[in-house]
Amino acid sequence: MKWEVLKDEAAVSARAEEFLLESLVSSEVGAIALPTGKTPVALYQRLNLLSEDLKAQFRTQTWFALDEFLRRDLAPESSFRGFLLRHFIHPMGIPEGNLLTLSFHPDDPEKEATRYESAIAAAGGLKLALLGIGLNGHIGFNEPGTPLDSRTGVRRLTEKSRKANAYLFPSLEETAHEAMTMGISTILSARRVLMLATGASKEAPVSRLVKDRSITETFPASALWSHPDSWLLVDSTAGAAL
Ligand code: PGA
Repeated sequence: MKWEVLKDEAAVSARAEEFLLESLVSSEVGAIALPTGKTPVALYQRLNLLSEDLKAQFRTQTWFALDEFLRRDLAPESSFRGFLLRHFIHPMGIPEGNLLTLSFHPDDPEKEATRYESAIAAAGGLKLALLGIGLNGHIGFNEPGTPLDSRTGVRRLTEKSRKANAYLFPSLEETAHEAMTMGISTILSARRVLMLATGASKEAPVSRLVKDRSITETFPASALWSHPDSWLLVDSTAGAAL
C-alpha cells in the first residue's frame, strides 16, 4: 500500500479526482465501486464542478455502491442509493441505470448478494474501488472479525458504526442494525483500491493502518496491505501521526 499525506480535504479530493479520471480514460474494462458517508462528499462536490466534456466521460461508466443499509422501512432517500443519486449520479448527468446498488429490503439477502457479485463480474470486475475507513477500521460495512476472504453479504453493525451513521436516521434507536456490503475479498478483487481518510476522527485508524502492518481480521482495512495496487490518501489531520 502506498500512502500520501496531503494538506487538506480539498487536496485529497483533487488527488482522488486524478485517480478517477485516469481510470475513466484508460481502455481497461471494468466497473468502479463508490463509497457513501461523510468522507467522499467533498470529492463528489468537486466532480460536480467539472466541465461538461469531462462529466461526459463519467456517463458511460458502470458504478457500484460499496454497501447499503438493511432496513425494510427505510425511506429510499435515506438509502445509500439515494445518497449516491443525490451527490453524484444526478449532478453528473449519469444515467440512473449505470448505478448498481444493493437492495435495502431484499426478500432473500443471499440471492441478492449472488446477484450483486454476478453483476460485478458481468461488468468486467472492478477496475477501481474507492472507499473510506471506519473508526474501527471497517471497509464497506465489513466490521472487525469479518473473514478476509468474505464476499458480498449481510453484516451486523457494531454500536460504534451505528453511532457514526446515526446522523442519517431520525434517531440512534432507528439506525439500521444490519447492512449488506461487498466483502473484503470482493473489494480486494478491484485492480486498484483507493482509500480516502480525512479529519481528526480518522487519525487513530489511519495511524494503526500505516504503522502496524499486520494483516488481521480484527482490523479489516489492514487487508489493503495484501493488495498490489492500493493507495491511501489522507489529509494532514488524519495523517498527523504519519
Ligand atoms: P465516513 O464513513 O466517511 O462517514 O467517515 C467511512 C466509513 O465508514 O467507511
